[in-house]
Amino acid sequence: MSSAHSSFLFPREQVFDWNALALGNHHRDQAFPFGACKRYLFLWARNAIFHGLTALEISPGDRVLVPAYLCAAAVEPILAHGAQVDFYNVRRDCRVDLPDLESRLGPKTRALLVVHYFGFPQNIQQIKQLCSRFGLALIEDCAHVLNGEFEGRPLGSFGDIGIFSWHKFLSVYDGGELVINRAGRDLRVNWTPERSLFTLKVARNLLGSRASASGKNLSKFQSRWIQRANSALRRLVSNSRQTQIRSLNLNDPAFDPHLVNWPMSRLSRWILDHSNVSEIVEKRRRNYEFLQERLTRIAGIRPLHSRLPVGVCPLVFPVFFEGFPNAHLSLRQLGIPATTWGFVRYSGVESGVFPDADFLFDDLVFLPLHQSLEENHLKMIVGAVETVIHCRTGTFQSREVRLEAL
Ligand SMILES: Cc1ncc(COP(=O)(O)O)c(C=O)c1O
Repeated sequence: MSSAHSSFLFPREQVFDWNALALGNHHRDQAFPFGACKRYLFLWARNAIFHGLTALEISPGDRVLVPAYLCAAAVEPILAHGAQVDFYNVRRDCRVDLPDLESRLGPKTRALLVVHYFGFPQNIQQIKQLCSRFGLALIEDCAHVLNGEFEGRPLGSFGDIGIFSWHKFLSVYDGGELVINRAGRDLRVNWTPERSLFTLKVARNLLGSRASASGKNLSKFQSRWIQRANSALRRLVSNSRQTQIRSLNLNDPAFDPHLVNWPMSRLSRWILDHSNVSEIVEKRRRNYEFLQERLTRIAGIRPLHSRLPVGVCPLVFPVFFEGFPNAHLSLRQLGIPATTWGFVRYSGVESGVFPDADFLFDDLVFLPLHQSLEENHLKMIVGAVETVIHCRTGTFQSREVRLEAL
């Protein structure tokens, strides 16, 4: 079976949509995601991790504990900073395995990184207490959080630093944020000025996502205008001699030290400032509830979480196809952009060392639920899941079969 399908039945990512912006007088609430001491907007969250270690005064040779179930993009900046990485177990329900974590603390362990997977909070209060007990800095990785809380307090505000990845939720090309929650900590970044070609690339990407979407909400004139502007920008970018920007691919999970001082682009900041976050949260929650309600009726399907807690904004719909590893490959053949974390796994952890992480990398499938999906898309997802469950060993060769199956 092939591992990827290039033409999906609906957009893989959320599509840029003017209607999703709150224009007029609206401006990002300065307290969003919460009123942190210091905040820095980077190209992406991995840069925020790198600089966050400087803010925490982590020195070369210090050790940072990170979960074994993690993408390379969060591990590589720590190594690039000069720190050593140790891993701790995450249970099959994606909860931090506290006894295992404690057993891996050593004399040089200085910091602990914890992930609120897919936007669902860990018991971060308990983890914070453990950090205080052992004198560790807490890195609260909120790359999967748009907003959310634990016991009434915003996620990202528990750690000494918090990391956010806005491009995962908003229809922006780039954007991650570092928040520093400890007073007195400061950071000097030698920012790389934004190049005009990069601004054009960001604009092209926005128009590209709009142009490839269905003509929804667009007149013929608007569609044609967008397609022309998109082609002109694509030509400009691809003819440029600035190879670094031309070849920059923000879907690449690798950490690139040449980009470490790049700020979030101006255009993406503008969109972040004007995004209607509460509407996005509401739409994602609605999409999650729809999938939850339909998928739990299917035998052999088990969502990672049995309910969506109040205030959680899910990144994806995480689900197990019981006894059926890598079920996302079959879903992709049906045109559904499902995925797992298998393809972004950090290669430094051999399989077999953390069996729970191995299981999650292979078996935990992420179904899309982004805010630009409508009910018909969600029904397609449910239909495809049913088809995959019914034809567990089947392959879906032709588009006709794919559509028929839906
Ligand atoms: C848990 C976690 N932390 C950090 C990152 C890095 O985010 P970014 O792609 O914005 O650099 C990712 C990326 O997927 C992630 O999943």
